[in-house]
Order: sequence, then C-alpha cells, then structure tokens
Amino acid sequence: MRIRAAVLEEFGAPLVVQEIDLAEPRAGEVLVRLVACGVCHTDLYTASGADPSGYAPTVLGHEGAGVVEKVGPDVGSLAVGDHVVTLFSPQCGKCVHCLSPKTNLCLAIRDMQGKGYLPDGTARLSRDGEPIRHFMGTSTFAEYTVMPEIALAKVSPEAPLEGAALFACGLSTGLGAAMNTAKVETGSTCVVFGAGMVGLGAVAGCRLQGAERIICVDMSEGRLELARGQGATETMTGGDDAVERIVEMTGGFGADYTFEATGNVKVMRQAVESARMGWGLCTVCGVAGRGETLDVIPRFLITGRRIAGSSFGGVKGRDGVPRLVDMWLDGKIDVDPFISHHITLDEVNHGFELMEAQDGIRSVIGFGAA
Ligand code: CU
Ligand code: ZN
Repeated sequence: MRIRAAVLEEFGAPLVVQEIDLAEPRAGEVLVRLVACGVCHTDLYTASGADPSGYAPTVLGHEGAGVVEKVGPDVGSLAVGDHVVTLFSPQCGKCVHCLSPKTNLCLAIRDMQGKGYLPDGTARLSRDGEPIRHFMGTSTFAEYTVMPEIALAKVSPEAPLEGAALFACGLSTGLGAAMNTAKVETGSTCVVFGAGMVGLGAVAGCRLQGAERIICVDMSEGRLELARGQGATETMTGGDDAVERIVEMTGGFGADYTFEATGNVKVMRQAVESARMGWGLCTVCGVAGRGETLDVIPRFLITGRRIAGSSFGGVKGRDGVPRLVDMWLDGKIDVDPFISHHITLDEVNHGFELMEAQDGIRSVIGFGAA
C-alpha cells in the first residue's frame, strides 16, 4: 500500500514527508494505522547524525499509538480493531530476559531491530522497489506501520490514543524508573534531576509509590511548575551547588532515592552524590552523549550508595504499558499537561524545532480520527 511518511533522507537535513510503499504484514507481524505519535529527543538525535548507530534513509518515529488494521499469519494476541501502543522495547515472553523478573531487555529481535529490519531480516518499507529501513522497529512518523506482534501493547479502547502515545517512550520510562527500577518506598525522600517528559514521569512515579518528599531540580521555572503539578513537594533551580543544597535539605544525609533524567553526565554525578549515605539509590534514566563517561568517586559507593540504570523504566512493555494506561484512566496519572503542541505529519520538522527551543514537553502528531 501507499502511505505518507516522514523520511530521514540525510543526516542534519529536515525530514521529507512523501509517499512511499508499505508491504503486507508477514508471519507474526501486524499492520497498524497510526492515530498519534509523539516527537522525541531520540528521533532528533538520530536525525542530527549524532547517533553512531544511525542510518538513512529511514522513517523515524517511535512514540506511536494506533489501531490494528490487519494481522499476518500466526498472530494470536491481537485482532483487527485493537488499540495498541508501539514498543521499541518488545516483550517476546519467552527469552531468558523476558522470563526473569529482573529486566525488561527482551533479547528476541534486538539484532535485526538495531540494523533497521523486521525480525526476518527484511524491510516492509520501500520506495521505487528499494528497501527503506525501519527505525527502532517502529517507524511511526507515518500513516501506517508494520511491526512484530511482540512489539505492540494492547491498551484499553477507552484511552484517547493521543495520550496513550506518550506511554510508548518517555512517560513509561519515568514512571517505571520510580516504580520498577528503584521501587521507591512509602514515606521516602526522592530527588528528580530534570523535568522533561522522563523526569516528570519519575515525579509522578514517586508520588504513586507514596514518597513523602519529592524534590525536583530543573533550569526552567515553567517545567518546575509542571513538576509541582505531578506531585513534586519542593522544586529548585539546578546549578553547581545542587548537591550541597540537597544534602542540607535532607538533614545532612542526602535522599533515599535520586533520579537523573537529563542525559548530562555532570548531572548524573550530582544525582549519585546527593543520594543518601548508607542506602541511597541513584537511578540513571538519561542517555549520555557518545563517548562520555560518568565520574564517580568510589567513596560514595563504599559508604552505601548504589547506582542503577533504567531503560524504558524497566517496563516489560506488553504487560506493563496497558497497566500504566489503566492507571491513567483511573485518574492516578495526569497526562494532558505533557502534551504541549498538536501538530500534523507535515509539521514534523517544526516539532523538532520546538524541542530544540525547549518549548513545551511534547509535540504530538495527529493523523486524523481514532
Ligand atoms: Cu523516545
Ligand atoms: Zn524476550
């Protein structure tokens, strides 16, 4: 079929919205009509050429939500009409990682996904007979996508798909960091560095876990305001003295849990150093730049602090995303404040500009009626 999609033709150049071809879903694959898709930093990072594993041409986009339009052979868990959220982090349910409660990093399709192909090693996207590679196994800056069944989470049909799309990436990452990776305990003190999508999600996750104090650190007063809306009890502007100030605010010890959601390695170090002596846990969610390293003075570890990394918030997507969406429908998570701009597919480059200008939290592309 012919579809409209935003193609990354060349690194550093604007995406080009155009008609390309999408082939039928094969065994274990599903055709999804996208209804909404968030514009995320990872898309911009790849488009800029900074990502060493990036490739072009490709159709970017990974924060999608839509409706199942057709299923290929051997698809058992999804049917036409189901509402789904796309997962760049799949859940096959069978691999050694899926069977362990300790991680969400499914091993099933990693290699092919990283190279830009569906699990059988081929692409469904093409132009004039030449294959176009898929991005993060999702390629959701498009009217339709074909994805493996194991990379689609079936969510409640009650959930507006524009909000559901945010659970495909940043929001689940932040919520899950607090709920799954750190497993924040009731009554604890938490510090969240960064009040973008992931940091705000972490604030909400800490609140849902019953944290008593949630201190959010960011450079923008507007974002700190949003953090208060998500449950931050205290907010502060970041800076070189952030650690000192946090230690002072916490009786000289530091916080039980700290979260880093900026990708800045200096801030990661602050997050480690502001974790409490004895048992403070620092969870790193941000993605650092290529070649950067995290500087940690070993004394901070020997005196009882721990550092954990969290990818997609430790959420096993097919099980976890529908549960988080249900919490939203139950009124426990407030999604609307995250959506700052509604744009069309043709305005995708404007979505990148808004992100570079740090204007708002998320631009969401709408593809038309649900
Ligand atoms: Cu993302
Ligand atoms: Zn797996």
